[in-house]
Amino acid sequence: MNELIEKINILKKEKNAVILAHCYQNIEVDEVADFVGDSLYLSQQAAKTDADMIIFAGVYFMAQTAKMLSPDKKVLLPRMESGCLMADMINLQQLREFKAKYPGVPAVCYINSTAEVKSECDMCVTSSNALRVVKSMGAEKILFLPDTYLGKWVERQLNGVEVITFPGFCPTHLRIKPEDVMSARAMYPDAPVLAHPECHQSVTELADYVGSTTGIMEYAQKSHAKTFIIATEKGVVDRLQRDFPEKQFILIKDNIICPNMKWHTLTDIYNALIYERYEITVDEEISRKAVKCIDRMLEVSKPCPVM
Ligand code: 13P
Ligand code: SF4
Repeated sequence: MNELIEKINILKKEKNAVILAHCYQNIEVDEVADFVGDSLYLSQQAAKTDADMIIFAGVYFMAQTAKMLSPDKKVLLPRMESGCLMADMINLQQLREFKAKYPGVPAVCYINSTAEVKSECDMCVTSSNALRVVKSMGAEKILFLPDTYLGKWVERQLNGVEVITFPGFCPTHLRIKPEDVMSARAMYPDAPVLAHPECHQSVTELADYVGSTTGIMEYAQKSHAKTFIIATEKGVVDRLQRDFPEKQFILIKDNIICPNMKWHTLTDIYNALIYERYEITVDEEISRKAVKCIDRMLEVSKPCPVM
């Protein structure tokens, strides 16, 4: 493995490439990654890097977002299979039908959506900035897509904004049930439960803290608790355990794993660099419109959080 890591690092230098990795990746990917973080942090890095090439160890919409923010760079996704099931739950036709039912109501898309869908939305959010960004819009009513649970969580937090949601969801986070929270609490009564807002409302209502990947990691870092129950993807637990070995992190239930995030191996990353595959391209017109929606979000999300 060390030899492979070395080869990747040499190729990265030769090709002036950066590797962006989402926190849900296989943890060995961090060995070669230049930036590891959540969707917001990685899109901020994609927007400001001066590398010639971006290797995105994440899911398809993330690489697509990176390409739109850095159109002159070559953006590569090491495995094309890595799509986001939630992002694929709404296409342009479904978005148009949804918007047509609520004329004049601004449409807010989760970053977990395709470039086509973003191109016809007014604002983009990630789970770490959704509250701030929606609040900044000053709207009384918004449409939110594709994740109904994140949308409804935003509505509950921002008393006074009506959030009409599209019925999309994350199959990985929906595997977590309220009974899992109850049984984990029975085993670790002193451990706070930290949950991602993509979880079902019946789960987030029982949690001690609800937040994005970064939010959960920061909470765990700052808290004086010794043990934590984590209700999100396993990659977060793996990184927390590596970074804070004096604390204990319990994945709320076995196999809370996003299979599409786990495609990329170090070998795939090496092949991506050497063969410059698989290149992500986005139609120029779609990109031009989608970037407006992403840029509005990035503007509201400054300054860049440090992970
Ligand atoms: P973050 O915005 O927390 O990185 O989450 C992205 C995601 O896909 C969660 O399932
Ligand atoms: Fe998409 Fe869910 Fe996987 Fe996140 S965890 S990338 S929302 S399928």
